[in-house]
Amino acid sequence: MENPIRLIRRTAKSRSFHILDIRIFSPPWSHANWEGAFSTPSSANFFILHGETIMGLITSRILENGPQDPSHAELDKIGILPPFRNRGLGRLAMEKFHQILKNRNIQWVYLEVSSRNLPAVALYRKVGYEIYRERKKYYPDGSDALCMKKTIQNII
Ligand SMILES: CC(C)(COP(=O)(O)OP(=O)(O)OC[C@H]1O[C@@H](n2cnc3c(N)ncnc32)[C@H](O)[C@@H]1OP(=O)(O)O)[C@@H](O)C(=O)NCCC(=O)NCCS
Repeated sequence: MENPIRLIRRTAKSRSFHILDIRIFSPPWSHANWEGAFSTPSSANFFILHGETIMGLITSRILENGPQDPSHAELDKIGILPPFRNRGLGRLAMEKFHQILKNRNIQWVYLEVSSRNLPAVALYRKVGYEIYRERKKYYPDGSDALCMKKTIQNII
């Protein structure tokens, strides 16, 4: 079945992302964080749409031809609005995101997540991420940071 999710990239909508972020994350980023994200040249920010309805967001950085590393991306946030969770939309949005990266010849995607964020860890494992490092008690709530990565070029 064709993936019904669309990712729409936005380059100048920091306020709409901030408002969406408040509805998804606790705590959300500040508006200044969002302005910073949008002013970073490598930043790639997407609305997640199903039909014409916004379901969530993805914030990432896509680093092509970096000096020390092959082209790679960092996933900073993926969020689905609460009423639409647990329906497979997060997985479908991640798959779309990976296709975008593949089309740009990105080799790897990295992310960091709290070990206590069980839905997120489950989602990342489901779409093929592996833990390559753990930072003990990294977050203010005492939870560990799981550093995860996935290779992109072998996806279909
Ligand atoms: C993490 C998040 C994006 C997952 O989105 P989602 O659309 O609910 O996820 P999906 O329905 O695609 O589920 C994908 C897999 O994750 C797992 N999963 C999802 N929610 C889960 C939960 N509450 N508990 C355990 N596993 C869960 C399931 O194993 C599912 O696999 P399945 O198809 O075998 O059931 C969503 O919970 C969210 O927006 N959370 C708040 C923001 C956040 O913490 N983002 C991640 C850090 S940036």
